[in-house]
Amino acid sequence: MLIVKGAYQGGQRPTLKTFCDCLKSQHPIHQIHSLSLFIIARACASFKFIFVTMKSLLSHPPLQEINDSLLTAEGVRLLVKRDDLIHKQIQGNKWRKLEYNLEEARCQEHKLLITFGGPFSNHIYATAAAANLFGFKCIGVIRGERPASLSPTLQFAEGKGMHLHFVNRETYRLKETEMFLRQLQQQFGEFYAIPEGGTNMHALKGVEKIIGELDVEFDYLATPCGTGGTIAGLLTGLKGEKQVIGFSSLKGHDKLTAAVDKLVQDYAGTKYHNFKINFDYHFGGYAKVNGELIQFIKDFKTKYGIQLEPVYTGKMFYGLFDMIKSGRFERGSTIIALHTGGLQGLCGYPEYFDSSVFEEFF
Ligand SMILES: Cc1ncc(COP(=O)(O)O)c(C=O)c1O
Repeated sequence: MLIVKGAYQGGQRPTLKTFCDCLKSQHPIHQIHSLSLFIIARACASFKFIFVTMKSLLSHPPLQEINDSLLTAEGVRLLVKRDDLIHKQIQGNKWRKLEYNLEEARCQEHKLLITFGGPFSNHIYATAAAANLFGFKCIGVIRGERPASLSPTLQFAEGKGMHLHFVNRETYRLKETEMFLRQLQQQFGEFYAIPEGGTNMHALKGVEKIIGELDVEFDYLATPCGTGGTIAGLLTGLKGEKQVIGFSSLKGHDKLTAAVDKLVQDYAGTKYHNFKINFDYHFGGYAKVNGELIQFIKDFKTKYGIQLEPVYTGKMFYGLFDMIKSGRFERGSTIIALHTGGLQGLCGYPEYFDSSVFEEFF
């Protein structure tokens, strides 16, 4: 992928022929053979998609080591997989989940995407940005009545061309039923539907790719959890290796472990037992915060230069540090924590964060 990016920094959209010629002229044929076959196969299906993807999304976000006296004292190494750096607006697990869904939509020749979410949804925000970038029309089915003034997330989505279709909470609960989808089809025509939060089998395929990018030895992989799609993709990518720790953002979501098992089973045809979901750091429930969590997020940025948000990544890192402090990891362990992005979500907490923190995402 990167070879082609280098070849086309000039910016003009290439034809398939110039694309291949360029590839050959820059790289001896034996070096590019399998790569070019792969790229050309994908190019035939979806040329614009690849070109735009390579041009604007970071394909291999780095691992950043955290240096802290606590880690030294406990003999633990902590690295952050910086998926938040993939793209300013289509970042973290949102891109990982969207990548193969967009490819599937393109392969099925759909021009319209439909997805679902609430007024501050990271998924709605990222899907609106991705649809705009990759040339899809897009409808967001939004939970609740249309308010007098839209949340910054929905303003952004509308600005990117997403049509917002508000439905009351009762109707929203039916969003996955055949009947509701048929009604949407009658109203809007044929579409490719991406579930709320983006979790489906294509999402797992995208998340799995993270594992191939982890080029250091490690013992634990940590991730925030909502629907369980991200942790499921990590598990299928790891194929039973290492230990995976999920940090639930939802209180008492006791069905989460079963949901992860089902996703893994549906995707990989087996179950993996090398994971545990921690429910101790939800801070009172989904999107709930307290002063300690907010201060932790601010200190994290000051000390390590990494922005977190309060719904997912803030809670995971708070939990991880607390577990390290209590000696829950053996000395000599290496932990990788996945930064799943979602930084636009900071706009839901204007009372705690200066607007300059989230303005850059809008
Ligand atoms: C930033 C962020 N991190 C983590 C999650 C949780 O991911 P999942 O729903 O796949 O468990 C979400 C929600 O999708 C999210 O937006």
